[in-house]
Amino acid sequence: MDAPAKANILLVDDERRNLVALRELLAGPGRSLLLAGSGEEALRLALQHDFAVVLLDVRMPRIDGFETARLLRARERSRLTPVIFLTAAADEFESMFRGYEVGAVDYLVKPLVPEVLRSKVAVFVELHAKSAALAREIAERRGAEQRLVESEQRLRALAAHLVSVREEERASIAREIHDELGQVLTGLKMDVTWLAARLEAKPLLQKTASMCELIDATIRAVRRISAGLRPEVLDDMGLLAGIGWQAKEFQKRTGIRCRVKLPAEGAGFGSELSINAFRIFQEILTNVARHAKATRVEVALSAAPDRLVLEVADNGVGIATGKVNGKGSFGLLGMRERALRLGGELSIDSARRQGTRITVSLPRGEAGA
Ligand SMILES: Nc1ncnc2c1ncn2[C@@H]1O[C@H](COP(=O)(O)OP(=O)(O)OP(=O)(O)O)[C@@H](O)[C@H]1O
Ligand SMILES: [Mg+2]
Repeated sequence: MDAPAKANILLVDDERRNLVALRELLAGPGRSLLLAGSGEEALRLALQHDFAVVLLDVRMPRIDGFETARLLRARERSRLTPVIFLTAAADEFESMFRGYEVGAVDYLVKPLVPEVLRSKVAVFVELHAKSAALAREIAERRGAEQRLVESEQRLRALAAHLVSVREEERASIAREIHDELGQVLTGLKMDVTWLAARLEAKPLLQKTASMCELIDATIRAVRRISAGLRPEVLDDMGLLAGIGWQAKEFQKRTGIRCRVKLPAEGAGFGSELSINAFRIFQEILTNVARHAKATRVEVALSAAPDRLVLEVADNGVGIATGKVNGKGSFGLLGMRERALRLGGELSIDSARRQGTRITVSLPRGEAGA
């Protein structure tokens, strides 16, 4: 930590002698004493420095102590600076009254008792040091918070980047599998069919028939794998068809009834929006299949001009409260990150044995893109 700043003390008196005496009395390590021979000079110094305490003589020509204190209070920088009035015995009563009125924290009657003065000043010096330490601590904490926020932003950007890289890679692998294997298999099937047409022996024809079946099964497998990586329906026919297709697949695979309500309007969702909404939907269905023990799923997609809202509700066991942000599970986290990245939001509404409803709202942004 930095060495604490020195405590500035301002001594104001029109008599040079008094100033020098005060300085002798109050000098000490960690303190810096500034002298002002008039109210004007005190005000000038208070523009340049922050003071732990100001010792202010009441009787001064032109601007007296009271006026100086009032002007100090009026400024933002010295608004809270403690002022101790030094007053002559004859003025004691009036000084007390007027001094407190203009915000003095204390007053001392001349001739000053050195011990009293020292200990009073020491209190303010200590207070000043404490508040300076507190201010430093607050600044440090703010800095740490800021760093945390920045690091979270960087992590979020990194996660978003990884997601889009993965998406691109999947798409390119899907294309390769589809194009390369698909063509080879089709060629193979044509060859076998050609061969079959020229064969007469029954066992050979049976063989070519079973080869054809195998090739067909392989073609279906290739389609299934490449569709899993990147559903073509999404690229070819858009999000609505993609959601419909995925829901049907889900129902076929799991036996869980899946009812889908889609808007009449067809296209108009950007590809970024489509793939993210689609992946979120897939993840929600995967969770339903894995965790919900549901028998029914209701899917509703609605499209306002500016946003897309996807709602998926199951009638399963519900998500236990502690599981929503559970460590080591990334499904819900990933969905939320996808939504946030697009400037949208995701909410989970779930009660024990009353199923789970996940609502995702995404801005359409580049609609029509
Ligand atoms: N529809 C649901 N019904 C009941 N529980 C659910 C449902 N969806 C999620 N959960 C609960 O919330 C937890 C967190 O889900 P999340 O998708 O984040 O992780 P996961 O499915 O366990 O693992 P993964 O990281 O592979 O997705 C799940 O472990 C499950 O307990
Ligand atoms: Mg999951």
